[in-house]
Amino acid sequence: MTYTILVSDELAEEGIDILREHAMVDVNTGLSEDELVATIENYDALLVRSGTQVTERVIEAGKKLRFIGRAGAGVDNIDMNAATRHGVIVANAPEGNTLAATEHTMAMMQSLCRNIPQANASMQAGEWKRSKFMGVELNEKTLGIVGLGRIGREVAKRASSFNMHIIGYDPFISPDKAAEMGIDSMSLDTLFTKADIITVHTPLIKETRHIINEKTIATMKNGVRIINCARGGIIDEAALAVAVKSGKVAGAAIDVFEEEPPKDSPLIGIPNIIVTPHLGASTVEAQKNVAISIARQCLEVLGGGDAKYV
Ligand code: NAD
Ligand code: MLT
Repeated sequence: MTYTILVSDELAEEGIDILREHAMVDVNTGLSEDELVATIENYDALLVRSGTQVTERVIEAGKKLRFIGRAGAGVDNIDMNAATRHGVIVANAPEGNTLAATEHTMAMMQSLCRNIPQANASMQAGEWKRSKFMGVELNEKTLGIVGLGRIGREVAKRASSFNMHIIGYDPFISPDKAAEMGIDSMSLDTLFTKADIITVHTPLIKETRHIINEKTIATMKNGVRIINCARGGIIDEAALAVAVKSGKVAGAAIDVFEEEPPKDSPLIGIPNIIVTPHLGASTVEAQKNVAISIARQCLEVLGGGDAKYV
């Protein structure tokens, strides 16, 4: 039997090749919700990254739909409740891009502390302003990691090699387990008061929405630096923008936004905030890994088996 699979966001060729051995595959990116609703009834499976919003309408219209695959970690663009109600299996590929997102976080941290993007822009504009771009070292700074899952703990490992003191908060990781990873675990409130740099690595769920906000920023050290390479919405963008402008927060590095692409994000256009367009997973290696993982899980489920990550 030949399955029909719609790939509605970019997926690495290695994954498409695996799918094509057993299925008819259409790659059709940039569809609106209405366009997706109009076409989804033809497919047994839908594969996405973060661009496609898989809403209840889309799932309802997918009369044959049995599998939704997310080539990456976050499933916040998929209506999980609707999928469950309609008996559609959802799987993701959370391991393939861990190191890419970790390395992007480290790159953002170093760029933030040494003003590299701003200095580059200045030199490209013909300037030579050495004193304007005085930085700070990572050495002996306290890094607060919120969320000690795959990425949070890989960031901890790398930050330790810079001789940073690592503190962390994760309600699902015991202090002993954190200590084994060289992380001093504490409450979120305490972490906020102690960290020189804060980086968030949680999913976006009700409990993590706007955990960095006007009130919590007020409890942080003056001159704290904040990084978000996890999900837009974990930080209240308006509150962060105000705090950076006032100097309370010395700078921020942001890869993910409440709305993507951002239309009116207050974080864009502020000199001490560096931004990248959701590039955390954008390495050749990570995209190959997640494409292969999600393609294999898709065929397994369509063949009557189980997904590895549900
Ligand atoms: P993970 O599931 O391995 O880890 C998430 C951790 O957050 C878990 O340990 C969990 O216990 C913890 N957590 C849950 N609720 C919490 C709370 N209220 N407070 C503190 N911690 C809490 O996920 P991961 O693979 O490490 O990914 C982390 C985030 O990064 C996700 O949002 C993912 O979507 C995102 N991500 C972004 C990119 C990118 O391109 N920028 C790439 C990969 C992953
Ligand atoms: C993820 O959750 O895996 C990332 O946001 C990366 C992506 O969208 O590819």
